[in-house]
Amino acid sequence: MSQPAQPAINAATRLCAVYGSPIAHSASPAMHNAAFAALGLDWRYLAFEVDPKNLRTAILGAKAMGFAGLNLTVPHKLLAVDMVDALDDSAKKWGAVNTIKFEAGPDGKIRAFGFNTDAEGLAVSLEQDLDIELAGSQVLLLGAGGAGRTAALKFAEAGVEELFLVNRTASKAEEIAVEISERYAHVKVAVGYPKTKIDLLVNATSLGLKPDDASPLDGKYFSFAQTRAVYDMIYRPAETKLLAAAKAAGCKTANGLGMLLWQGARAFVIWTGKPAPVDVMRRALEQNIYGH
Ligand code: ATR
Repeated sequence: MSQPAQPAINAATRLCAVYGSPIAHSASPAMHNAAFAALGLDWRYLAFEVDPKNLRTAILGAKAMGFAGLNLTVPHKLLAVDMVDALDDSAKKWGAVNTIKFEAGPDGKIRAFGFNTDAEGLAVSLEQDLDIELAGSQVLLLGAGGAGRTAALKFAEAGVEELFLVNRTASKAEEIAVEISERYAHVKVAVGYPKTKIDLLVNATSLGLKPDDASPLDGKYFSFAQTRAVYDMIYRPAETKLLAAAKAAGCKTANGLGMLLWQGARAFVIWTGKPAPVDVMRRALEQNIYGH
């Protein structure tokens, strides 16, 4: 099927961008530009290396120049909470902003409206890629950094029955456990490995990005036979050692590409108001990241 023609860049072209540091390997431009082209939209998506000390200026600059929206990635998501003019419930709930829409506010002036699409992206990916229904499930989450905290809170909000948190720095897992007990009192939350069978293991640590990284999972305390499915938020490489071992043990597995896809699809809808061409976006990501 031929794609609708996309006009050459002109004075009316709408712009979006991602800010991060480092940003060189971001696959978001490939994903969003493919989506704009598929819908024949006169929009483009750029990527900028932005130092955290310049983040506020860079957001103001995009607003002043009439950008349609931004994505924010490491290390900007928490910082941006205090730099936007208004926060959507999603950004308030998780205390982080990964998507900004520039739009007319109640006073008619353009405002930076902050959203967070990461948590929803993860939940949709788990459902689509692993057939996981979070409500009522038992989940072990490895990692208590930014991504781990958002995942833990999303799992609690979605009504998991029991959540086990493990992190190298145990105090960070304990802080999240306290926050969950306060905000989602009905969820059973524990720091440490489960002894019983669970539905899902999620890796939200950075272990697995490098070929010689140790496993994020301590085999002394947990075996793959205890879980039905394993999700690794890492998508580069496509199959971490954790996923390879889980697959060999008979678990259903998925990497974090789906999370990247679905957070992007939600951002696309926020900016354009149109349904996201998800298949086109997935193919663009695969092509960009894996080269096929
Ligand atoms: P992100 O935004 O991707 O979550 P982060 O906030 O830096 O990044 O979190 C990285 C996560 O990977 C943390 O859970 C971190 O554990 P600590 O909280 O103990 O730092 C985990 N991690 C990173 N390197 C690790 C290592 N070598 N061993 C174990 N865990 C590691």
